[in-house]
Amino acid sequence: MKIYAYAASGYAGQLVSVEVDIRRGIPGLDIVGLPDNAVRESRERVRIAISRSGFEFPKQRILVNLSPADLKKEGAAYDLPIAVGILAASNQLPLISGNDILCIGELLLDGSIRSVSGVLPAVAAAKNHGVNRFIVPAMNLPEALTLACKTAFGIAALQELVPALEQPQNLLPETVLVQEEASSSCEDISELRGQPILKRGLEICAAGGHHLIVFGPPGSGKTMGIRTLPGLLPDLSPERALEVTRIWSQSGSLGERKGLIYRPPFREPHHTATSEGLVGGAAGKPGEVSLAHGGILFLDEAPEFGGRVLQSLREPLESGRIDLARAGRKWWYPADFQLVMAMNPCPCGNLGREEASCLCTAPEISRYWRRIGGALMDRVDIRVPVSPVDPQALLEPPGEDSRTVRERVNLARDMQLRRYHNCLWSINADIPPGELRKVVKLDDTSAIYFTEAVRKLGLSSRAAHGVLRVARSIADLSGRSDVDTDDILEAVQHRRLGDRDLYWTTL
Ligand SMILES: Nc1ncnc2c1ncn2[C@@H]1O[C@H](COP(=O)(O)OP(=O)(O)O)[C@@H](O)[C@H]1O
Ligand SMILES: [Mg+2]
Repeated sequence: MKIYAYAASGYAGQLVSVEVDIRRGIPGLDIVGLPDNAVRESRERVRIAISRSGFEFPKQRILVNLSPADLKKEGAAYDLPIAVGILAASNQLPLISGNDILCIGELLLDGSIRSVSGVLPAVAAAKNHGVNRFIVPAMNLPEALTLACKTAFGIAALQELVPALEQPQNLLPETVLVQEEASSSCEDISELRGQPILKRGLEICAAGGHHLIVFGPPGSGKTMGIRTLPGLLPDLSPERALEVTRIWSQSGSLGERKGLIYRPPFREPHHTATSEGLVGGAAGKPGEVSLAHGGILFLDEAPEFGGRVLQSLREPLESGRIDLARAGRKWWYPADFQLVMAMNPCPCGNLGREEASCLCTAPEISRYWRRIGGALMDRVDIRVPVSPVDPQALLEPPGEDSRTVRERVNLARDMQLRRYHNCLWSINADIPPGELRKVVKLDDTSAIYFTEAVRKLGLSSRAAHGVLRVARSIADLSGRSDVDTDDILEAVQHRRLGDRDLYWTTL
């Protein structure tokens, strides 16, 4: 029988085998295998917790070896595997021989067990390794159950070890697995009055996974409109759901959730966020770009974010992951998200409003738009200008609800799934440039409109490709296998704006 712990290194991680040797000699506990301070402190916690839990701490020489030795081991989650190792080696546990076991958990001095982050990835790695018994903190049991229903046990104190090990299976009902939402609050699109272009932009954005920016004066419903987006997106695929739940597990953000997160996350970091908070880095935890994996990263008042912070988004936008390095260590997390931004048209916000006058100078307005940066802006294929809705419209009855829109989005996603069945991508936003011609076939008229528009608007090749991808999504929303001229024209309309000089033309 082997006892395993888990060493996380970003999204990836490795099992750590915990071997305990007890022999006669001067009583003491040594832990070897490159443990950091927190693991070394575990010596005292384990010793006291064992003796206060009704077990006996062996008065012999105890050597704990964590291997592989060259793997950095951090944190307090090694307490439980070390304690289990010591109790097993001193014959105080009814361990079923030959049955490997993964243990994870932090001990308090009274023997109770604190929850830790990263239980789900640990269980996933152990299962891959053929381990099929799991002892985790009771608080983290729901996470473990998402992968290992019957042989995962949650314990709240060290005393509960023996009963847990004596049972072949846990006695929990099979139906414990539920599907969880990632975001708690989500507005329904029926509450958004008027704003037909914004609604259309949101629907296309949801259908094809495109990045989106909405700009217009304060109070016009930008924030409200964008917050409807999580309700328009399709469910995550089972693989995605597992990825997302793993990331949330590692960040310790699962909270009370009892199953896989199957709805796309919606993250809305404040504009005072640091680039560390956004891309990650602190203590190996995932940042906002990774918590938004599979869903939306919403930057409200986007120009208010620091320039460096915004530029740090370029790498994940390009590769769908984020690579981090601190103090000689390297790790990575998935970070495949849809970028959605909202902004005022100028620093004072009044540009374009009839009832108020804008006091900003032209250079101030230019600078404001430039804060987002050309490289980032160029990737945003849907740009929606909004003006405050007519007061009359606010009195109208609610429009189409999010469920109805989501049904159309789901049909468009189904078309994409079928089309990209054997491909490395699954949504229109991810069609590689080299494949666009095969997927978006234009007749002569459409081709002329397309090239004319690209030339007239001075679009970069990336932007031009974006137009084709958006046109593909528009066709998919109407269930057509061919992209026609109207699709191209509409896609151009959505791409046209968003550069400071062009804003004027919308007024
Ligand atoms: N089109 C709209 N339909 C319904 N309510 C609206 C609309 N636009 C604005 N509102 C109301 O005004 C409030 C402020 O809108 P908000 O989305 O915060 O504007 P913005 O982000 O553009 O400044 C909303 O909470 C909502 O009550
Ligand atoms: Mg707002």
